[in-house]
Amino acid sequence: MKDIATNQFIRKNIIDLKPYTPILPFEVLSEQLGRHPSEIIKLDANENPYGASPLVAERLAEAPYLHIYPDPESRELRDALAEYTGLEADYLMVGHGADELIDMVMRLVLEPGDSIINCPPTFGMYPFDAAINAANTINIPRRPDFSLDMVAISQQFEDNPNPPKLIFVTSPNNPSGTLLAEEDLHRLLELPVLVILDEAYIEFAGFEHSRFTWVKEHANLMVFRTFSKWAGLAGLRVGYGAFPLEIMAHLWKMKQPYNVNVAGQIAALASLEDKVTLFGTVDKLIAERERFFSALQQLDWLTPYPSQTNFILCKVAGRDAPTVKQQLAEAGILVRHYNTPGLSDHIRISIGTPTQMARVVDVMRET
Ligand SMILES: Cc1ncc(COP(=O)(O)O)c(C=O)c1O
Repeated sequence: MKDIATNQFIRKNIIDLKPYTPILPFEVLSEQLGRHPSEIIKLDANENPYGASPLVAERLAEAPYLHIYPDPESRELRDALAEYTGLEADYLMVGHGADELIDMVMRLVLEPGDSIINCPPTFGMYPFDAAINAANTINIPRRPDFSLDMVAISQQFEDNPNPPKLIFVTSPNNPSGTLLAEEDLHRLLELPVLVILDEAYIEFAGFEHSRFTWVKEHANLMVFRTFSKWAGLAGLRVGYGAFPLEIMAHLWKMKQPYNVNVAGQIAALASLEDKVTLFGTVDKLIAERERFFSALQQLDWLTPYPSQTNFILCKVAGRDAPTVKQQLAEAGILVRHYNTPGLSDHIRISIGTPTQMARVVDVMRET
């Protein structure tokens, strides 16, 4: 074989990229922990422990056209989403998870060397996708109550010949569980920047907190959502976004034609059809969140933050957070620890079933 240094062909920003820490698949975890998958309580990725609606499996089993490419415009699903969201289908695009839409908007907007504003602590994919797109991430940390630092954000646009092009804000935010203040969104929309509002967890907060339909009045707003959390479809990868029509025209040109597969479209449609059942499980998760929050408040070595989502962020004080995570893992309970500045003494725990959460509380009391 000829000796060719293939790295010379790789884009420099990819060579410099730090890999995203992936969540390990169930089977691998099961082997590592020496436990059967059914004995693992997986609370590290905000998945829905109740799974998909039973109608999803039914509809998938009878799907006749698995050998035909999917509708590139997801027409049926976008019509159903229009009914679900109250926003006309023309403003809607479906993605292979909300993750795809994050990357797609960056590819639409960013030239190498451009910047985005990221407001940590928040979802890790924004800086990750920016790096893939050879863009800089300007981190503007949230204030101690996790609200946005509006002064620092606004300063980025004062006398700046190369101002940031995108700002990502998440409501409710992952991992803090907090909502974006409405006046802050108004102020962001006044800035010369495209605002991406990520509403991945909005079903757990309530639609009264959604700003999804605002895209009709704001040419610089985009709002993303997903079926991964409330509808339990994380494995099938379906997200969607609301976009102003001018931006939408360009997105249609660049979208991979078959980005959302047939199974994903069928599953999302079935979820919307059976949304009453799914909202029932959302209610159960919210009730369990509140019960679990009260139980956590009883522990003197940990402070939980109130949450509007299906997870709770906790500050670990008087103990070492990575050790707590490890002790829980040894009991078959997986939670998320953040190895990032400002969060290294925190863990995030997704909400599971009442039985699962009772076990978590027992183990936490014992450790
Ligand atoms: C804030 C936020 N946005 C988007 C996503 C990803 O959604 P999807 O599974 O649709 O790609 C997540 C998943 O954890 C998230 O926390």
